[in-house]
Amino acid sequence: MDKFVIQGGKKLNGTVAISGAKNASLALMPATILASGSYKLLNTPDLRDVTTMSRLLQSMGVTIARKGGVLTINTFRVNKFEAPYEHVKKMRASIYVLGPLLARYGEAKVSLPGGCAWGPRPVNLHIEGMKKLGASIELDRGYIVAKAKRLKGTKIVFNVSSVGATGNILMAAVLAKGTTRIENAAIEPEITNLAEFLVMMGAKIDGIGSTTLEVQGVDELHPHDVTTIPDRIEAGTMLVAAAMCGRKVKVDGCNPDHLSAVTARLEDAGAKVSIGDNSVTLQAPRELKPVSVTTAAYPGFPTDMQAQWITLMSCAHGPSTVTDTIYFDRFKHVPELVRLGADIELKENAAVILGKKKLVGTTVMSTDLRASAALVLAGLKAEGETEVLRIYHLDRGYESIEKKLRKLGAEIRRVSGEEF
Ligand code: UD1
Repeated sequence: MDKFVIQGGKKLNGTVAISGAKNASLALMPATILASGSYKLLNTPDLRDVTTMSRLLQSMGVTIARKGGVLTINTFRVNKFEAPYEHVKKMRASIYVLGPLLARYGEAKVSLPGGCAWGPRPVNLHIEGMKKLGASIELDRGYIVAKAKRLKGTKIVFNVSSVGATGNILMAAVLAKGTTRIENAAIEPEITNLAEFLVMMGAKIDGIGSTTLEVQGVDELHPHDVTTIPDRIEAGTMLVAAAMCGRKVKVDGCNPDHLSAVTARLEDAGAKVSIGDNSVTLQAPRELKPVSVTTAAYPGFPTDMQAQWITLMSCAHGPSTVTDTIYFDRFKHVPELVRLGADIELKENAAVILGKKKLVGTTVMSTDLRASAALVLAGLKAEGETEVLRIYHLDRGYESIEKKLRKLGAEIRRVSGEEF
């Protein structure tokens, strides 16, 4: 297990390039099961989660090769319709194979993901949706065992906006017989990326980008190449780093439209933000103003930016509150930030941050992906040396983050070793 050693207090300046979106890749990759053949997935980030998804697909008979940012995927020989616990326990998004397997091969056995590091994350909407599409589903010794001769179009109304359930049901519905209407569908850009890919493969989907998707099932799809959208969470994390420690940082190769909730709040905090076609440039304020945020489904403030925002607000000149309405318990980073000197009190699903606190380096522990990003940001700001342990969490979702930060002027190095 690797750790990061960060010498805090360095000013960030320059340009950072954003990689492809993890959450888009994790949907695009399993979608290739829907039609036999060869695909190129461009701008695929090189991340642990992508490797986990690759291994899962390979265990089903898919072949995958990487050259730079291009994944070549071949789905001619899918011969196993199972997502075993060993993969699913590493990454919950493994459940994305359920829809494509069921739609294309009429069967799927997928391990239930179980809890997450920060709390419960149910998959009931995935299961109920597949049932509504006509699948028979049994839960057997921790596995979802699903079968269907051919799925049948139906109406599905989600009571919660779910990225994963929308993606999974969409992938199932494109090969179902008849029309499926999905109401209260998630409109996250990663879902749009997936839906547009499915259309390129021959799917008939109306309402892409809206909360109502209407899918006219087709008998067959065909392989097509696709480009992964830029990672809006990586971009947002870099913008927060710039607001905390920056002079002027250009976050390049992103889609500014996908970042509007974050850039608007950064402006409220006093940063000067200029939007380009594929970039956002941020000039750090002399003094950060406190800005309270509440997470919401897209286009609201992303829960995946909540931890990083708490770090930012720990350095603001005044109190603020960060409320998470998507995941009520996603606050494992808070006690670690407190160890770095932040003044934060947890009240149910909200963090009340006093702000204006001097962060001082020490050793802290990563507990999950975005929590570790928050700790790295804190380490960049903190006085002296910060060690962030267990950064394998970070490697799940940030491509070469230390190299990108070093290019901006940060002093951060990876130390490899068993004991961390
Ligand atoms: C995805 C993202 C994750 C992000 C999250 C919310 C991927 C691979 N991961 O996760 O980074 O934090 O969206 O933006 O894209 N829910 C249910 N029942 C279900 C499914 C979800 O009640 O069957 C609830 C969840 O508990 C949560 C809300 O719906 O409160 C949203 O979760 P969801 O959008 O499904 O998250 P994921 O797709 O798992």
